Amino acid sequence: MASKNLQNIILLYNIILICGLCLVYSKAELPRFEHPIKPDGSLSILVVGDWGRRGAYNQTEVAAQMAKIGDQVEPDFIISTGDNFYEDGLTGVDDPAFEESFSNIYLGPSLQKQWYNVLGNHDYRGDVLAQLDPILRKKDSKWLCLRSFILNTDVAEFFFIDTTPFVDKYFTNPKHHKYDWRGVLPRDEYLFNLLKDLDTALKESSSDWKIVVGHHTLRSAGKHGITFELEERLLPVLQENNVDLYVNGHDHCLEHISSPDSPLQFLTSGGGSKAWRGNIRPWSPEELKLYYDGQGFMAMKLTKLLFLHFT
Ligand SMILES: *[C@@H]1O[C@H](CO)[C@@H](O)[C@H](O)[C@H]1NC(C)=O
Ligand SMILES: [Zn+2]
Repeated sequence: MASKNLQNIILLYNIILICGLCLVYSKAELPRFEHPIKPDGSLSILVVGDWGRRGAYNQTEVAAQMAKIGDQVEPDFIISTGDNFYEDGLTGVDDPAFEESFSNIYLGPSLQKQWYNVLGNHDYRGDVLAQLDPILRKKDSKWLCLRSFILNTDVAEFFFIDTTPFVDKYFTNPKHHKYDWRGVLPRDEYLFNLLKDLDTALKESSSDWKIVVGHHTLRSAGKHGITFELEERLLPVLQENNVDLYVNGHDHCLEHISSPDSPLQFLTSGGGSKAWRGNIRPWSPEELKLYYDGQGFMAMKLTKLLFLHFT
């Protein structure tokens, strides 16, 4: 009986290993995925955020530019920093916005890669479980969205973090918005476990590059500025574990801010559709390496060295 169970477990384990996306189980609590790098040892990525508006606000034009740059850099995968569907996420798995804002927009051949998506605050205003539902992957195989997960490659390890539940005002002062907190409550436990799992995974990582991706800003000269809850709770974990990059959306601009006291670099890519032109706060010029208040996306090339390019 015991050995039968063991066989079943081994069989299940084998099935998990061969399934399309290479979901690999390990000690850490966060789900893990693997993505191959190029034969020359490099990895090319596009990063876009704050985009789903059925093509409006130049979403279609940004998508066309992504396809064009994509033809040149041949991205291995694409990262979305969240706020995938405006204004209020998806209404359900059958919401036509999935096609109208995603499948029918990012049509370029070079964009038909795996998309790794996190959720933004606007996504939590709809049926939050819809974006996480595997049915969407059946509708469009390039879609993959989880709340928090790890993506391992031979050059870099990516830690995708669900940042919306950190922000107090969505709970204490939601205004007229309704947030779908299914799977998040009790909140304190959710945040505690997430930070613990991230810390454990970062400590276990031996990757050359450690890159954390979330929706909300840690450092930003844009309209939203610093997310204080993340500064208090997430930033120390990143600093303690020598994270190289924190990549986010939420502010509708493109920017690069460096740290004076650590190697950690902050990159915002939130220009996927509606941009907030002219919206910039004062920031120390030594730290603010780039600020662009229009639409666009980020291309990243990683080898043992990192090359960044904003378009
Ligand atoms: C679209 O982009 C063009 C060129 O950058 C800009 O002039 C225009 O204001 C943008 N439109 C919207 C709705 O954002
Ligand atoms: Zn946002």
